[in-house]
Amino acid sequence: MKKLLAVLGDPIEHSLSPIMHNDLLAHYMIDAHYHPFKVKKEDLPMAVKGLKAIGASGFNVTIPHKTAIMPLLDRIDELALKIGAVNTVVNEDGQFVGYNTDGPGFIRGLEQVIDSVENRKVLIIGAGGAARAIYFSLAQKGLKNIDIANRTVSKAQELIRECPYLVSSKAISLEEFKGHLMSYNLIIQTTQIGMYPRTNEQPLSLESLNKDAFVCDIIYNPFESQFLREARLNGCGTQNGIEMFVFQGALAFEKWTGKFPDTHRMKNIVMEQLGGTKC
Ligand code: ATR
Repeated sequence: MKKLLAVLGDPIEHSLSPIMHNDLLAHYMIDAHYHPFKVKKEDLPMAVKGLKAIGASGFNVTIPHKTAIMPLLDRIDELALKIGAVNTVVNEDGQFVGYNTDGPGFIRGLEQVIDSVENRKVLIIGAGGAARAIYFSLAQKGLKNIDIANRTVSKAQELIRECPYLVSSKAISLEEFKGHLMSYNLIIQTTQIGMYPRTNEQPLSLESLNKDAFVCDIIYNPFESQFLREARLNGCGTQNGIEMFVFQGALAFEKWTGKFPDTHRMKNIVMEQLGGTKC
């Protein structure tokens, strides 16, 4: 019988996950279908119950359900529990188990283009949900120096206080960071600033950037945010958010099927959907 995989969110119409996962399922001849379901906040418990009743093999959860899903699951993996957000659920012998593949997906994507992520001195810009997943995942991996710049410093301080892994971090405002960028060799932009349609905005200027720094932006619409463009023009290596999206999906696919998929193929599908050229 055909197995069911799904993504629950609201809105969900523009999700690229169904096209990406259904292409992989067909490619590997796995008899399953990945379906998007628009689920309102108040309907999430009922939706999860329904998926369990029909024996779904697993599903993704996206905005606004990543935290609300947690009490509805049978078990939650340690990293997801600490991050406080689940994006992937796996049916393990009838039990729904929650994982977070966003942070690990970001790291796997980054490892495609830079060596020795472990030795980097990191600056994370932003202190929301995406920053939290990336910060905790990098700290779990053993990175020792990760500072956080945020408009609201108290939120960055809270993130640092709540991090369960051993890491040296300081919280600073976006203003204060101007002119202090030189000491970082990995900079990760996690806010929505610069995303379509407000493409001429950026969270901070990269004037005093270290030329050896590698700069990431989790935005992929546009492909190159103004922030990334400034970094590239400064001579830095850059990466947009497509790898994070692809690798969070690849890690989820592996959990559901036991197979780590062809991420190059996934990236091409995503690029095609976004109107870019194949790599
Ligand atoms: P997500 O879960 O997608 O990461 P979020 O939790 O809403 O999103 O977090 C958004 C991040 O973008 C926060 O760090 C926010 O800063 P504050 O904590 O000060 O709110 C940051 N952010 C959003 N709009 C911003 C703006 N115009 N200028 C500076 N920072 C902004």
